[in-house]
Amino acid sequence: MEKFALSDAHLVGDDLLDAQHRVILGYMAKIYDHLLAGKKEKDMFGLVERLDTYCRLHFLDEEKVMEDMEFPEIVAHKAQHALFITHLENFAGRFEEQTSTKNIDELLFLKNWFVEHIADLDKKYAEHKKQLEKRH
Ligand SMILES: [Fe+2]
Ligand SMILES: [Fe+2]
Repeated sequence: MEKFALSDAHLVGDDLLDAQHRVILGYMAKIYDHLLAGKKEKDMFGLVERLDTYCRLHFLDEEKVMEDMEFPEIVAHKAQHALFITHLENFAGRFEEQTSTKNIDELLFLKNWFVEHIADLDKKYAEHKKQLEKRH
């Protein structure tokens, strides 16, 4: 059974961004359940669209937070967000014609990418924020 939960180790110390991370994982879990249940792709289209819209919103909010704290690695971080959106667009564009097995593979790729992104990169601005707070 695949897990779509985040642990405390994934918290970035910003209530809005932490909540958005959980909502995104929640959408992914729903899409996964639909795929496992063999639901019609048509039913899933709205969910995939919402996931896409919500990820874009989250990335914009997160980039604003990084800009406000003058996070030095923001350019590389933004590039990773753009890369994820490309993966997501490819998934959305293909899933109607793909088999469920292939869609599940791709969804799990997106999920693992997203969770690792939080653990590796989002945690870096979280650490930067902590350092700034110590100085004030
Ligand atoms: Fe990020
Ligand atoms: Fe994030």
